[in-house]
Amino acid sequence: MHTRITKATAAIDSGHAMLLDDLRCLVNRLAADRDETAFASALRRFVALAKEHFMAEEDELRRLGYGDLNAHHAEHKGLIDTADALLLSLTTRFDYYERWGVALYFLHWLTNHIRRQNEAITPLLNDARAQEVATAA
Ligand SMILES: [Fe+2]
Ligand SMILES: [Fe+2]
Repeated sequence: MHTRITKATAAIDSGHAMLLDDLRCLVNRLAADRDETAFASALRRFVALAKEHFMAEEDELRRLGYGDLNAHHAEHKGLIDTADALLLSLTTRFDYYERWGVALYFLHWLTNHIRRQNEAITPLLNDARAQEVATAA
């Protein structure tokens, strides 16, 4: 019945699960060894995954007609800009404990962003579901 909406939210949810898994890998790597280069390459991979996810999510939200997309996009862009700046300085000046700070920053940002945006998006998804049900009936 509401296949399109269900598919869209499942894709977004699985994107979040993938990003959180990747961050867990990053934290585990940091716990396992102090190597700066290994951490930088793990962080670089996470940032690339996050960029892909943000683009796919914004496409879905645009298709669903989400009204607050500009604000949501601005949050994504803010994180990517920060991540790019951190990556640039990572190899030159961050010590081990600062790298922990970087990993925790991304973990907190992501869990907070997902929680708040899920609350903001839920009414839209409910409306879209109700519309699809009404159309199907
Ligand atoms: Fe997301
Ligand atoms: Fe998002």
